[in-house]
Amino acid sequence: MLIDPKTLSPRKMYRLLIDVITPRPIAWVGTVSGQGIPNLAPFSFFNGVAASPPTVVFSASNRRDGTPKDTLRNILVVPEFTVSTVSYSQREEMNATSADLPYEVSEFAHCNLTAVASERIRPPRVQGANVSMECVLHQLVPVGEGPLAATLVIGRIVLVHVDDAVCGAQGELDPGQLDHIGRMGGDGYCRTTDRFAIPRPSEK
Ligand SMILES: Cc1cc2nc3c(=O)[nH]c(=O)nc-3n(C[C@H](O)[C@H](O)[C@H](O)COP(=O)(O)O)c2cc1C
Repeated sequence: MLIDPKTLSPRKMYRLLIDVITPRPIAWVGTVSGQGIPNLAPFSFFNGVAASPPTVVFSASNRRDGTPKDTLRNILVVPEFTVSTVSYSQREEMNATSADLPYEVSEFAHCNLTAVASERIRPPRVQGANVSMECVLHQLVPVGEGPLAATLVIGRIVLVHVDDAVCGAQGELDPGQLDHIGRMGGDGYCRTTDRFAIPRPSEK
């Protein structure tokens, strides 16, 4: 089968992408409005970009009416955000924060989540997250215009919070304890409990 993107509607192209690009990590992104109202939403077009300088990226798509989501609206005013990770036990709360609430309503309060003040930036992070990263905006990269177009939000990590509960005896992060979930196509998710290791080829 060959698929020419030009023959697909943006909606169908989106479905194809989310079916194919799996599993996707989930960034639970905290922002704050100019009026100080905290906002929280999940984004799975998310990844790390570089370790030096420490950089992450996520993609905020426009709504079907072409308007930007609250997360991007906030970042345009307060150019900072937190990324909290999502574990299996937080799956329902995370999903609840994806509701399209009015701009003035905070998902933290609406979804009974506790917002913890950040140390170096204004937006809060999610209490109970295994790991949260405080980020300052580095660059916004628009990708297209109108419905389902997107903006890449590139951020520099300025502080990382790691819950002691996911650290080993020497105080180091133990990835085996994170129990993160990943996003699949449709309404699907996966867990990270079924793992295997493959050593990298040795370098010459
Ligand atoms: C697991 C999950 C992943 C999501 N990933 C994205 C994404 O990568 N980009 C995006 O624009 N919306 C994504 N969404 C939808 C947004 O979370 C949703 O539109 C939300 O209402 C945006 O909130 P805001 O208007 O407060 O920014 C995702 C939703 C879920 C449940």
